[in-house]
Amino acid sequence: MHTPYRIPQWLDSFIFDSLEARINYDHCRVMNNLENSHLDNLNYLGTYFPRTYTEIKTVMNKLSRETDYFDHQDIRFKRGFRILSVGCGTGGDVVSMIDSISEITGCQIFSVTLIDGNIDALEICQEIISMQGSVKGLRIQTEIINR
Ligand SMILES: C[S@@+](CC[C@H](N)C(=O)[O-])C[C@H]1O[C@@H](n2cnc3c(N)ncnc32)[C@H](O)[C@@H]1O
Repeated sequence: MHTPYRIPQWLDSFIFDSLEARINYDHCRVMNNLENSHLDNLNYLGTYFPRTYTEIKTVMNKLSRETDYFDHQDIRFKRGFRILSVGCGTGGDVVSMIDSISEITGCQIFSVTLIDGNIDALEICQEIISMQGSVKGLRIQTEIINR
């Protein structure tokens, strides 16, 4: 594993070995990433994406364990889920949400709309979601909006 955060092995190898993510903490730079270069996005991907992934996983697991949210009939019997992410960046939250929902509900069909002003981040996000679909056997349809 390259990151201290607990993310799935396939995700760790994909972002670090295939996409060449880097770990580089920069608290000032990270506050404004609309104009990020590809290298800036790789720094973000290695440094902050894994943390977001684990944070969302923790929240979703808590929601599942401590509330009856996922027991409601309209959630439990859904054939597919639609997710909208505004300012998706490289997608730490979306990828984690898809993993969580599929693990909790068993649902394998997702339709995801990704909106971001940074086209490079959108492309990275789409690559990760596409790999996630293959690795986890999920049918994930994505629409990207670069605005
Ligand atoms: C903190 S990052 C993304 C975090 C992401 N949701 C995650 O979970 O990893 C914020 C994103 O919002 C985008 N963004 C910020 N201001 C924007 C704007 N005015 N229009 C479009 N995208 C914007 C940036 O390009 C960046 O990718």
